[in-house]
Amino acid sequence: MSTTLPEGFLWGGAVSACQLEGAWQEGGKGPSVTDVLTAGAHGVARRITEGVEPGESYPNHDGIDFYHTYRDDIELFAQMGFKCFRTSIAWTRIFPEGDEDEPNEEGLAYYDDMFDALLEHGIEPVITLSHFEMPLGLVRKYGGWSNRVLIDLFVRYVKVCFERYRDKVTYWMTFNEINNQFHTDTDLFGWVNSGLVFSQEDDPERAMYQAAHYEFVASAKAVTLGHQINPNFKIGCMVAALPVYPYSCNPDDVLVAADLFHQVYFFSDVMIRGNYPAYALKLFERREWDLDITQEDLDALAQGTCDYLGYSYYMTKAAKSDANNDVTDATDASAPQMVPNPFLKQTGWAWSIDPKGLRYILKCFDERYNGIPQFIVENGVGLYEDLDENQTVEDDERIAYFREHITQMKRAVAEDGVTLMGYTPWGCIDLVSFGTGELRKRYGFIYVDKNDDGSGTGRRFRKKSFGWYQHVIKTNGEEL
Ligand code: BG6
Repeated sequence: MSTTLPEGFLWGGAVSACQLEGAWQEGGKGPSVTDVLTAGAHGVARRITEGVEPGESYPNHDGIDFYHTYRDDIELFAQMGFKCFRTSIAWTRIFPEGDEDEPNEEGLAYYDDMFDALLEHGIEPVITLSHFEMPLGLVRKYGGWSNRVLIDLFVRYVKVCFERYRDKVTYWMTFNEINNQFHTDTDLFGWVNSGLVFSQEDDPERAMYQAAHYEFVASAKAVTLGHQINPNFKIGCMVAALPVYPYSCNPDDVLVAADLFHQVYFFSDVMIRGNYPAYALKLFERREWDLDITQEDLDALAQGTCDYLGYSYYMTKAAKSDANNDVTDATDASAPQMVPNPFLKQTGWAWSIDPKGLRYILKCFDERYNGIPQFIVENGVGLYEDLDENQTVEDDERIAYFREHITQMKRAVAEDGVTLMGYTPWGCIDLVSFGTGELRKRYGFIYVDKNDDGSGTGRRFRKKSFGWYQHVIKTNGEEL
């Protein structure tokens, strides 16, 4: 049967190590930046504590215990027909403090077995090398990504992973949502991306651009190295794709929206084109920043451009030139000019729901980057859910959400000619929310019986969407 989406389309699901593995001190693992993040809620920011403090709650320490349950969970993914599974390697399982001479064998062996479990089911691992879990040791000792030395430490970690999993993993991504540190008004995003606490920086914006530069160079060097280790590797970058619409056709709104779109484009421009865009160089000039960017760095960027563009897509924003919002709500980092879009509904966490925005960003990226292969590695909706008397969740709202998004995704392929590699809905199994640290912001096709107060058996249950998604994959997206 001929289908809209290409044969071999990578249907799957996505998670990250620090949001589901738990076992934060097992197998020789060291503490990561996320291990010192307290629980929050919608409108209640997660706090960064100095260390792990008694009496505080750290939801990522236990996650959903995937560290121990992965074989059973992967069995469930296989039942849904997953072709791929996106997760991350916890850097702290491989280099617990980040700067040891030798990697931690127990951590390496753990991922060996997890990848084997996937491959036994014909599921391709799609691996992010750094998903909000950099070693806390690197922050305490070197100041995180404010320090150039991180480039070599990251490349060394990556080299160990590439060599070890050379024949098990083909699809890689360097930094998860590298751009979500763009808004420097909140501490959470700078912390998890770069180990920076913006509120303690003299010039947070400069600190962000400097850290991002070192990450760009590290990412580019990783791409170059990966291709040497295995020329078949496909190594992508990963951004949070958050399109910004002008609130109106007032030219001032249009220009503000175009500028705010740089919160995405600045990062993908550098990593895909391999050089700094003129608008960024002009900004550096205006600010009179003397950033540490060497010719050798620029050569590395030009050499290590990404094979594909991976991204998360959850929502769009609208920008109004004369708005002036408070942007200190860490659960929804934004800019003062961002306003709700009156044409869109929102989730319980105030995220707009905009399936057509997905088609829009697919087209934008396609046109901006000359048909580069794209990979939607996160999309989904967080909902409040409980198991019903039939031990399931009738999550029709989630099914409708995915149906509409996949419809738009297919149109982008069929009508706009976008090259799309795959689609991995976020949180295919319920896990700890990154933004709020809650378990009750549930994304999964699989319900995990675990609650924010620590109650629950940890057992897994199939939601209604489980069977629905299984059928979608079976028909390669033809029947929604
Ligand atoms: C992305 C991240 O920001 O969105 C994930 O890559 C995160 O780590 C996901 O979990 C959903 O966000 P949240 O805050 O609802 O968990």
